[in-house]
Amino acid sequence: MTQQRLRILVVGATGSIGRHVVAEALARGHAVRALVRDTRKGRMLGDAIDLAIGDLTEKAGLDMAVEGADAIIFTHGSNGGGKLGSERVDYGGVRNLLTALGPRKVRIALMTAIGVTNRTGSYNRSTEAHDWKRRAERLVRASGHAYTIVRPGWFDYNDTDQEKLVLLQGDERQSGTPQDGVISRRQIAQVLVASLTCDAARNKTFELVAETGPAQGDLEPLFSTLAADAPDGLDAIRDAANMPMDEEPDRILDDLAALRRQSFATAS
Ligand SMILES: NC(=O)c1ccc[n+]([C@@H]2O[C@H](COP(=O)([O-])OP(=O)(O)OC[C@H]3O[C@@H](n4cnc5c(N)ncnc54)[C@H](OP(=O)(O)O)[C@@H]3O)[C@@H](O)[C@H]2O)c1
Repeated sequence: MTQQRLRILVVGATGSIGRHVVAEALARGHAVRALVRDTRKGRMLGDAIDLAIGDLTEKAGLDMAVEGADAIIFTHGSNGGGKLGSERVDYGGVRNLLTALGPRKVRIALMTAIGVTNRTGSYNRSTEAHDWKRRAERLVRASGHAYTIVRPGWFDYNDTDQEKLVLLQGDERQSGTPQDGVISRRQIAQVLVASLTCDAARNKTFELVAETGPAQGDLEPLFSTLAADAPDGLDAIRDAANMPMDEEPDRILDDLAALRRQSFATAS
C-alpha cells in the first residue's frame, strides 16, 4: 500500500457512505473534492473540502468536477428513484463522469451492492437497481481506467464485535436480507479509500462483509487473495453469466462502445 496523496473526487459525498468516505480520505492525507447538487449540504462537509456543484444526470458541471482529479470514488445512489432513477443516476451518473474525463486516466473505486447479479428477486424486478448498477460496473471495466469495484453487504447491521473484513467473489449471497452479510459504513469507506493506493486491489471486484472478530490493520493481504477480472471482460471474474450482451438494449451497447473508443484513443 503506497502513501500517495491523491486528489479524489467523491461522488455521493453528502450520502450516508459518502460522508464517511470524505472523512476517511481526509484522514489518510488525500485532497478531497465533493460533487454535490446542493451547495448548503456540501458546505456541511467542512472547510477542507473543495466543492464541485453538479448533477450526475446533467453533463454541465461534470467537466469541472473531474478537472485535476487523480481518482474518483462513486458512492451515489438514486435510492427510491425507481427504474428511471436507477438508469439516470446509478448508471447514467457513472457514464456521464467517465465521459467527462475524456482521454485522461484516473483510479476509480465504484460501490455497488452485494447481490447485484440477482435479476429475478422482487427488489430488482420493481426497481431494476441491480441491473443498472451492474451495467455501471460494466462501464467502469470497459473504460480502461484502473478500478476496484466494492459490493458491500447491509450497512451498519453488524454488531460491534463484527469488524473482521471478509472479501468474497462470485456474488453468491442473494437472499436480499442481512443474512447475505453485514458491514459498517465506516469500514466500507476505509476499503474504498484504501483500494485507490493498493496495486493488489487493481481491477478486482468483490463483495464486502464483516464477521465476528477484530478489524485487520492492513488490507493488502485481503486484496491480494482475490482474482482480478478478465482483462477484456465486462463482468466480474466469477459472476453468473445471466446478463447476455445480445439481450442488452442498444443504448447500453452504444455507451460501452463510446467508452471503449475513448479508452483506445487514450492508449494510442
Ligand atoms: N442500505 C444498504 O444496506 C445497502 C447495501 C449495499 C448497497 N447499497 C447501495 O448504496 C447506495 C448509496 O447508499 P447511501 O446510503 O450512501 O445513499 P444516500 O445516503 O441516499 O446518498 C446518495 C448520494 O447520492 C447523491 N445523488 C443522488 N442523485 C444524485 C444526482 N442526480 N446527482 C448528484 N448526486 C446525486 C445524493 O446527493 P444529495 O445529498 O444531493 O441527495 C447523496 O449524496 C444505494 O444506491 C444503495 O443501493 C445499500
